[in-house]
Amino acid sequence: MDSPRSHDRPTAFDRMLTPIHRWIWRNAERRVQKLLRFGETETDGGRDILRAAEVTSDPLLRRLYREHAIDEFRHGVLFRRRAAALLRESTSSSNAAFQGDWLAPGGHGLDDLQVDGESDDSLLAFLHLSEKAAASRFTIYRDVMRHDPRTRAIFEEILHDETFHMNYTFTQLARVAPERYRRHIWRARLSRLWRSYLRLAAGLAGIFGSIMLTIQYFVLLPPFAWFAKRAERREHAGWIPVSAERQGSLDRQY
Ligand SMILES: [Fe+2]
Ligand SMILES: [Fe+2]
Repeated sequence: MDSPRSHDRPTAFDRMLTPIHRWIWRNAERRVQKLLRFGETETDGGRDILRAAEVTSDPLLRRLYREHAIDEFRHGVLFRRRAAALLRESTSSSNAAFQGDWLAPGGHGLDDLQVDGESDDSLLAFLHLSEKAAASRFTIYRDVMRHDPRTRAIFEEILHDETFHMNYTFTQLARVAPERYRRHIWRARLSRLWRSYLRLAAGLAGIFGSIMLTIQYFVLLPPFAWFAKRAERREHAGWIPVSAERQGSLDRQY
């Protein structure tokens, strides 16, 4: 059941993925890339929520959205600064570390947010679930980040805000749609589920695509290479005399 809650209760699914999150965040290079991506998502989300503040006709929501947007911009700055600090400390130059985003998706889910054309009810439901997901994942990230106390402190700080966002969106949804708020939350949940499925399917398709191309490379190409080499061996080396019928004068184009 949905209700305001404290931030230290990640979902069972996120708890199940803890070893994967620990593995992803242990690598300094992956940590930098993750933090940069989180910074981008938070800033984009802040921009969308600022847009929501512009379009809503509810004065209380406008004020809350504005404060929310400022928080998200600040989170973006915190993530980017930490990524920059880690980058300065890092000596590695490679930039192709596996991120596993489709397997253990990023923090917020605000990247799927579309403000224009949405009612306050459906937007609040979507925001509530996004913030809930963020609070759950940031709790896990904070817990697996014991080896990096400064990054851990950032997650702890942001987690506090995400918990506030999760709770205020729920309270406001219950205020603006007292009889239909559960239906809005379920609709938003199904929409998020569908997007998660698409993300997972795209990730799996990428992996299967790589496997198929690798198999084709090692199974289909060698016979062609062998036929080409055999044909090359049958060719005579050097100049070859032209046959008599092709010795005529050049009186046409071909
Ligand atoms: Fe945030
Ligand atoms: Fe948030």
